[in-house]
Amino acid sequence: MKSNVKNAEGKLGVLVVGLGAVTTTFMTGVLMARKGLAKPVGAMTQYDKVRVGKGADKKYLKYDEIVPMAKLDDIVFGAWDVYPENAFESAMNCQVLKEKDILPVKDELEKIVPMKAAFDKNFAKRLEGNNVKDCKDRWDMTEQLREDIRNFKKENGVDRIVVLWAASTEVYVPVNEKIHYTLADLEAAMKANDVENIAPSMCYAYAALAEGAPFIMGAPNTTVDIPAMWEMAEKTKLPIAGKDFKTGQTLVKSGFAPIIGTRCLGLAGWFSTNILGNRDGLVLDEPANFRTKEVSKLSTLESILVPEEQPDLYTDYYHKVRINYYPPRNDNKEGWDNIDIFGWMGYPMQIKIDFLCRDSILAAPLCLDLVLLSDLAARAGRWGTQRFLSFFLKSPMHDYTKGEVPVNHLFQQYAILKNAIREMGGYEADQEID
Ligand SMILES: NC(=O)c1ccc[n+]([C@@H]2O[C@H](COP(=O)([O-])OP(=O)(O)OC[C@H]3O[C@@H](n4cnc5c(N)ncnc54)[C@H](O)[C@@H]3O)[C@@H](O)[C@H]2O)c1
Repeated sequence: MKSNVKNAEGKLGVLVVGLGAVTTTFMTGVLMARKGLAKPVGAMTQYDKVRVGKGADKKYLKYDEIVPMAKLDDIVFGAWDVYPENAFESAMNCQVLKEKDILPVKDELEKIVPMKAAFDKNFAKRLEGNNVKDCKDRWDMTEQLREDIRNFKKENGVDRIVVLWAASTEVYVPVNEKIHYTLADLEAAMKANDVENIAPSMCYAYAALAEGAPFIMGAPNTTVDIPAMWEMAEKTKLPIAGKDFKTGQTLVKSGFAPIIGTRCLGLAGWFSTNILGNRDGLVLDEPANFRTKEVSKLSTLESILVPEEQPDLYTDYYHKVRINYYPPRNDNKEGWDNIDIFGWMGYPMQIKIDFLCRDSILAAPLCLDLVLLSDLAARAGRWGTQRFLSFFLKSPMHDYTKGEVPVNHLFQQYAILKNAIREMGGYEADQEID
């Protein structure tokens, strides 16, 4: 291996905020895979192969043959949640996985007992749990989380930690230049207990970075997508990534929109609707929480089918995204897309996609990949927003203060991911099509 990334020695602590459907599916799958009882299907870090070298020298290697990766056996899980149920109880309640796929790792899951959450009901009104910290102010909230991270590290003998947010979507917090643009202002607002502008998720992110852990935002919350947190990541020299796991409908959208764009077909409208009945769906039924998701979901198309670049084809297309809470389906989401396109001489056509997916089954491999690749990035000395992780995210972070545009096109994101792995592995980045 030519890589000069630090080796992945010792244990990797994976601290997850939220011990609900996604997290317990992720944890159960990792523990089952470790025992050889399940396959980590969908995880790039476990399956994907990247070409290195060209011509006669070319080889296709798995990530861990190019860069030093933490192994599934190295992972030690911990979590925070508003509800006190341990990971076994929560996995059973969420009903994503069958009992037969949970019971073989019952003992290990039972040991994952959530720490008290840093929580404020105003950010997720529909949650009623009481496993919640008693905090004087937002600064105290952050301090208590820092202590949790330090204790977890000590008690479990882990060498490195990654913190992943897979908790409920918080209400939309608009970026406020007076609070969210500099680290000094952000810290002052935490100390002044500005409960409107400082979401609990910001306390988790700040605490993680302050304790030397990369932070990943799996929900659409603006948490680390603010200049103050970019500054914190720069100061601590740690990676941050976000936001919002790209799982079902948006994965389809970012993979399908390129078909329209690449063929220079026109788009008149794209209507996306979802029905889902898990706790995530319940929280998103609240308009203020849905707003956060809507902003994230809408951004995908506009950067793939760009009106300014092709006014004949993409001006004024109608793009709508809805999520409807429908309990009978639980975690089995149905995502419908109706796409109105037009072709030669403007003649209209329609495309319908009905994706009967399983939300947490799609999200679990992304959790694993984001955690392992953020840990890799930290050992490679990369800090700040990790653009190479955009592949996994619905609304990739980018420097909007400088007018930067995010890359949403799935295949461009994949090229960026592969090049980052090549570069960290000491190979040349390139643009050749494999
Ligand atoms: N599954 C997917 O396909 C997918 C895709 C993109 C994003 N997401 C996001 O991932 C997140 C998790 O989804 P899920 O289906 O597991 O939801 P879930 O409701 O089953 O689990 C979320 C858990 O987070 C806990 N929680 C809420 N606020 C908290 C806080 N401040 N601290 C600690 N715990 C807190 C809740 O009590 C709950 O148990 C959601 O925000 C969802 O929008 C999921």
